[in-house]
Amino acid sequence: MTRKILIVDDEKNTREGLRWALESQAADILLAADGEQALLALGEQPVDLVLSDLRMPRMDGMELLQHVREEHPATEFVMLTGHGTVETAVEAMKVGAFDYLMKPVNLEELNLLVRRVFEARELKQENERLRAEVNERYGFENIIGNSAAMQRLFQVVRQVAPTKASVLVQGETGTGKELVARAIHYNSPRRKRPFVAVNCGALSQSLLESELFGHEKGSFTGAHAQRAGRFETADKGTIFLDEIGETSPEFQVKLLRILQEQEFERVGGIRPIKVDVRVVAATNRDLKKEVDAGRFREDLYYRLNVVKIDLPPLRDRQDDIPLLVHHFLQQFNREHGRTLTIAPKALQLLQNYSWPGNVRQLRTMMESISILTTGKEIQPRHLPNEVATDPDTGQHLRLKVGMTMRDAERELIRATLAELGGNKARAARVLGVGRKTLYRKLEEYQLAGEDKPEDGA
Ligand SMILES: Nc1ncnc2c1ncn2[C@@H]1O[C@H](COP(=O)(O)OP(=O)(O)OP(=O)(O)O)[C@@H](O)[C@H]1O
Ligand SMILES: [Mg+2]
Repeated sequence: MTRKILIVDDEKNTREGLRWALESQAADILLAADGEQALLALGEQPVDLVLSDLRMPRMDGMELLQHVREEHPATEFVMLTGHGTVETAVEAMKVGAFDYLMKPVNLEELNLLVRRVFEARELKQENERLRAEVNERYGFENIIGNSAAMQRLFQVVRQVAPTKASVLVQGETGTGKELVARAIHYNSPRRKRPFVAVNCGALSQSLLESELFGHEKGSFTGAHAQRAGRFETADKGTIFLDEIGETSPEFQVKLLRILQEQEFERVGGIRPIKVDVRVVAATNRDLKKEVDAGRFREDLYYRLNVVKIDLPPLRDRQDDIPLLVHHFLQQFNREHGRTLTIAPKALQLLQNYSWPGNVRQLRTMMESISILTTGKEIQPRHLPNEVATDPDTGQHLRLKVGMTMRDAERELIRATLAELGGNKARAARVLGVGRKTLYRKLEEYQLAGEDKPEDGA
């Protein structure tokens, strides 16, 4: 879109001169003879920049600026001023003008300034776009899951997000702990302030301390300059302490103090620094067990764990697997400009797999499958071997409360057959039913002939 500049000056020669001076800017140039005309023009179309004289009859530059700030907050304003009115020009910047220029206007200076205005606007627009994108990425809509466990989770996240309560997120690797932490931040009143993630497990204790609290110059070898810590960066925002279970007891004491006092000193510093930070911590251990084993401080545990969110492993919420598969498939289709679908049998295999790496593993697998599958539909043969022949799916009996008797029976038959390598005669004996009964049930539950070898074959 072409940029628009509005030149406002009561002298025709100045207006024309400025228009000529700005010819190289690739912008549409509008002219107005005073503040009132300028406001009319602004009402008709969005303008990027107003270049206005200060002294004009009827409505002067200052009054125009005030109107523009109130009625067209997205429009930038540069004041042109003669000698003796510099104080007013400075005043104008306090009210929100981008800058001012002395008359007579230096051509080069003018063009430089206009370019600066446009660059600043582009940066601002880019930031707004990024912020919108971030909100889109980290909203609740992006946490996929319809299982009862996930519904409960959404409920808790929704309730806790707007508060300042510390949250402890627990779950196996890849279950979405960071995703939840971000959703909490981006659905809280702190969303416009930083979300700062720190992996506490990746750093030695001393590095972690200087990373979090910052350090004063010369406080240790290598501390060449003063540096602010992540707690300072996260002020008024959220700090995400990942892998909190890996931290040392000494570090835990320090962290506890900050949480209690919202105040700390930089490493090697004496001046206390006050911060207002919300803490979300995550761990893939059972932190209560770590407390009982004496590896994690109990007082810190209770500080962090004002609200606990347990992310269930993916194998415990099989109902979510088809949703996730379709979600990721759609995402990668969009990215790669494709229309790949998945065959029911392949989907069934994915649903039966045990997913030790949870959602992350599923996502990565869907990405590589969607790149490597050349046809229109994902078939079982496109799946990695570990999914097509998951050792876990056989032996593990997936029974749960909420299942019907019928589903439980089907599951028992499936698991028994898988365990016995598909040998139906043996399966019938183990299950304590006649062969005919088993065959009938296999028919009924559509378990018959699922790529399983026949008796003894
Ligand atoms: N419920 C979900 N819906 C959609 N995407 C998810 C879901 N859970 C996790 N993911 C995706 O899976 C990947 C891993 O999630 P995340 O990084 O939050 O896991 P984590 O629990 O922090 O893992 P780790 O313990 O290994 O750090 C990310 O790409 C995330 O977007
Ligand atoms: Mg993580």
